[in-house]
Amino acid sequence: MNYIGSKYSLLNFLENSIEQTIDNNCNTFCDLFAGTGVVGAKFKEKGYKIISNDIQYYSYVLNKSLIENHKDPIFKNLFPIIPILKKTKISERKKIVIDYLDNIPHKEGFIFNNFCLGGTKTKEIKRQYFSDENGKKCDAIRQKIEIWFEENKINEDEYYYLITCLLEAIDKHANTASVYGAFLKKLKKSAQKLFTLKPINIIVNDEEHKVFNMDVNKLIKQINGDILYLDPPYNHRQYATNYHLLETIAKYDYPKLHGKTGLRDYKNQKSAYCQKSKVKEAFKELILSSNFYYIFLSYNNEGLLNLEDIKKIMSLRGKYGHYTQKYNRFKADQNKNRNYKANTTTEYLHYVIVKK
Ligand SMILES: C[S@@+](CC[C@H](N)C(=O)[O-])C[C@H]1O[C@@H](n2cnc3c(N)ncnc32)[C@H](O)[C@@H]1O
Repeated sequence: MNYIGSKYSLLNFLENSIEQTIDNNCNTFCDLFAGTGVVGAKFKEKGYKIISNDIQYYSYVLNKSLIENHKDPIFKNLFPIIPILKKTKISERKKIVIDYLDNIPHKEGFIFNNFCLGGTKTKEIKRQYFSDENGKKCDAIRQKIEIWFEENKINEDEYYYLITCLLEAIDKHANTASVYGAFLKKLKKSAQKLFTLKPINIIVNDEEHKVFNMDVNKLIKQINGDILYLDPPYNHRQYATNYHLLETIAKYDYPKLHGKTGLRDYKNQKSAYCQKSKVKEAFKELILSSNFYYIFLSYNNEGLLNLEDIKKIMSLRGKYGHYTQKYNRFKADQNKNRNYKANTTTEYLHYVIVKK
């Protein structure tokens, strides 16, 4: 998923820097601003026990599948509906269930009625976040997943797994420049194509992992471990507004929508890390409350917190250091008139080895 602040292309830098810093006794890796979950997934693959968290529900869903779930889904209660599953190896059942959902009849539901032109053209506010057919397909699949879950046809792991596959698939065909803060007037090429559900891979291992959906400053007081990795937002762009449609598809809770873009209420998801007046205090509280041996922080040289403040606050807990890497800026759109200072930023990985 193309996500603001994703660390996908920085994974090697993070892995190498973290491994250079820690000792051999670390078992738990904690990713508290998890987003797409790629950082936790990398360390899960390396055998760590992962704790993952994000304030956004769609991220919770992605992380439930990618991090907490560590076995292939069995889909036992779907045998009467999809009989071939019974004779299929467990590792190959995902594909069969996904193909079944990919081919169910499309249906006009909440997404079509509120976020597609066909559903909004007679309303005061018209929206075109998806093609009509993609909106209907999304509604049909999302509703089927909910019904299966309510009727105990799928368990919790299977439920999150299927919603994750839907989010990953439809996001690639959204009619946006990149984020959901606005939609494009005309359907762009990729948005005209019907999305296809694909089974996402599961990282199979024997460790138990845990995923939370909380404000980080509350959660930090309830957990402990070896490595704490922090990747907060760097600037004022709230994830709740930029990814509101993923939230609505993930929750499918028929929210009251506001304004041109169909924003849902997000007062409980407004992040202090996106507010200049609150970020320093929130970060200091987070660092002082943490119960980990190593704390790492990803941040760049243009964020709301300045480097001096970060160093000062992290040094309160022990020996401070940092690694750097040049990085291409996230481009939300092709707007050439934007007043960018430079095309690259410097990405920092700050760390503190906590004094015992
Ligand atoms: C820079 S992104 C993380 C990207 C992630 N490392 C990745 O590679 O996909 C920051 C994340 O922090 C989450 N977030 C912001 N404020 C939060 C808070 N107070 N508590 C928990 N999560 C928060 C956002 O929802 C967003 O997913």
